Amino acid sequence: MERMLSGIKPTGRLTLGNYIGAISQFVKYQDEYELYIFIANQHAITVPIEAKELRQNTKDLVALYLASGLDPEKVTIFLQSDVSAHAKLGWVMTCMSYMGELQRMTQYKDKTAKGERGITAGLFTYPSLMAADILLYDAKYVPVGIDQKQHVELARNLAERFNNRYSDTFVIPEPLMTTVGQKIYSLQDPTKKMSKSETNPKGTIDLLDDPSAARKKIMSAVTDSLGIIQYDPEHQPGLANLLTIQSVLSQEPIDSIVNRFQGKGYGELKREIGQTVYDFLSDLKAKYKDVLDRKIVDQVLQNGAQKASSIANKKIQKVYRKVGFIITK
Ligand code: TYM
Repeated sequence: MERMLSGIKPTGRLTLGNYIGAISQFVKYQDEYELYIFIANQHAITVPIEAKELRQNTKDLVALYLASGLDPEKVTIFLQSDVSAHAKLGWVMTCMSYMGELQRMTQYKDKTAKGERGITAGLFTYPSLMAADILLYDAKYVPVGIDQKQHVELARNLAERFNNRYSDTFVIPEPLMTTVGQKIYSLQDPTKKMSKSETNPKGTIDLLDDPSAARKKIMSAVTDSLGIIQYDPEHQPGLANLLTIQSVLSQEPIDSIVNRFQGKGYGELKREIGQTVYDFLSDLKAKYKDVLDRKIVDQVLQNGAQKASSIANKKIQKVYRKVGFIITK
């Protein structure tokens, strides 16, 4: 079985974008690949976050992984901070990265372009740590939304650079994106990504939102004044986004939804999508509650940390030897 790895940063409440772009892919692939899914808590502190909030987000994220259908018997689920090899290889990867290539990473570039203050060195070198996350496990595939593609490409470059400089050590990873839903947009501004850090709550559907409130958000989603139901992301981005959400959650192809709604109004379409989202969130919430009631999160993380560490520790020892670190213990 080929290896696959991915992770999510516990910086806020997870959105429908995270589910569609990432988690639903993880669930789909868990039978076909040896899958490692982690909680990127070391990435979460690249921006200020209260310890209490980080702890809560972390537990919610694990519970949501399980509620979404990740099976801990098949998938290794773990906390990044439990496996010290991430930080260790992260440093080596930081030393393999050029300032110029990190400056080109969009997250850092966007924040500096906006003149944001208080950008940490951690945020700047974060993509090197992300490369380490992937390379430690010899992951061939990395299922992500399109916003993370650039980071996986950096991981490829760093792996090749290391292999050329020292000798073959790392598998060269590839990003894997869904055909539909690589990027889900804000319901209020369909030119912007739906994001955990969105300030307008009407634009974002959180996975733990009250299902009725989420339905209202769909009903008030921004569309256009054309009044024709068709899939045209360029001219009707709001509508295209809604069709994408409906298609992924109901597993009906976009064409078929468009055909069914020929000659009908946006209101009718939104009512159907609102119901789909309502049903999806109600089901997820019930499963989430069940996971918490069963109190399995700690055990899942302990097992996961043990399994991930045994692989990652071997890799970091190999890397240390190659770069010339003497290992005395
Ligand atoms: P993060 O936490 O921002 O997002 C987690 C995953 O969700 C996807 N995603 C989306 N997909 C579609 N539409 C959206 N609106 C949307 N918003 C988010 C992201 O593309 C991502 O797949 N750096 C990573 C976490 C990370 C990681 C890794 C991922 C750290 N190390 C190693 C893979 C491999 C991040 O911040 O994702």
